[in-house]
Amino acid sequence: MNIEEIKSQLAQEIASYDFGRNPEELYEPIRYLMKLSGKRLRPLLTLLGYTLYKDDWQKALKPAIAVEVFHNFTLMHDDIMDKAPLRRGQPTVHEKWNGNIAILSGDVMLVKAYDLLLHAPAQYLPLIIKSFNQCAAEVCEGQQLDMNFELRSSVLEAEYLEMIRLKTAVLLGFALELGGILAGAEAASLALLRSFGQNIGIGFQLKDDYLDVYGDAAKFGKQVGGDIIANKKTYLLIEALERAEGVLKEELHHWISLEEFDKVEKVAAVKRIYTQLDIPALCQQKIHQYFAQGFTDLDNLPLDEGKKLFLRNFTAQIIHREK
Ligand code: IPE
Ligand code: IPE
Ligand code: MG
Ligand code: MG
Ligand code: MG
Repeated sequence: MNIEEIKSQLAQEIASYDFGRNPEELYEPIRYLMKLSGKRLRPLLTLLGYTLYKDDWQKALKPAIAVEVFHNFTLMHDDIMDKAPLRRGQPTVHEKWNGNIAILSGDVMLVKAYDLLLHAPAQYLPLIIKSFNQCAAEVCEGQQLDMNFELRSSVLEAEYLEMIRLKTAVLLGFALELGGILAGAEAASLALLRSFGQNIGIGFQLKDDYLDVYGDAAKFGKQVGGDIIANKKTYLLIEALERAEGVLKEELHHWISLEEFDKVEKVAAVKRIYTQLDIPALCQQKIHQYFAQGFTDLDNLPLDEGKKLFLRNFTAQIIHREK
């Protein structure tokens, strides 16, 4: 098995999938977003999860793509909610077209995700749909909490961790579980795969928060500083609010309470405060902690170590991602 081969077939399968044609305004944004260079991490996790048990991963391609289509649907709507101008280095759908188009194209993507899941063997469908539905509802719950937290002056670290578990990590959990289900894994292993995905998913979102401040805009492909502009209660802001004292504390509260501000100035000022408080190192530590927890789940899967190697190595790379 070769991971480049899996990536290339995945890309081909996505490129050749017919989302629909008419009306053009509904389907064009889907093709646009799906064509941009996302990492396609989630379907890869599904396929690597599958190869823990079976070699004929081609059979899992369509359900794996369902996870990517669902993910892209959440991004299309998330960018409206976050007023994000850029996605994967290009204008977001609501900026390039408009908000209503982004809502409706996103809606139909959710339907297409179900269409793709229907390619799974009938015997597994009830379990797949049940698990997927729980995951999808949890993503919405997480997204709502994310927005609620923007308006709150303080959020506990534990509340934040639960919010990102819901908005981001459960989908990585589902992606891995799906691979296991399709390959016929038993319930205890499915639970470990889900837990593995959720742990690395929390680490993944922590890294996303980190890159939102410290990333290189050209590589990250999103507006750097967007979370600071929106007062998102990221791990960085929560820890900074916790640690800041004296003048730094006043300064931080000043910036987050301002209703009108120069965006570039606010981002630079808050970033400087984070750096002075050593928040980046703290965040890195937390990222490693969650990936390590994920690797413990992987250790506990009752399989030969050789079988786990691809998934382990692939996951280890995600920790150091720059995009
Ligand atoms: C972005 O996901 C949304 C988050 C959950 C952080 P990715 O970082 O996987 O985005 P793409 O699909 O590679 O663009
Ligand atoms: C996104 O979190 C989670 C979902 C899309 C469900 P973010 O809002 O941090 O994701 P990005 O940074 O826009 O990709
Ligand atoms: Mg968001
Ligand atoms: Mg966003
Ligand atoms: Mg983000």
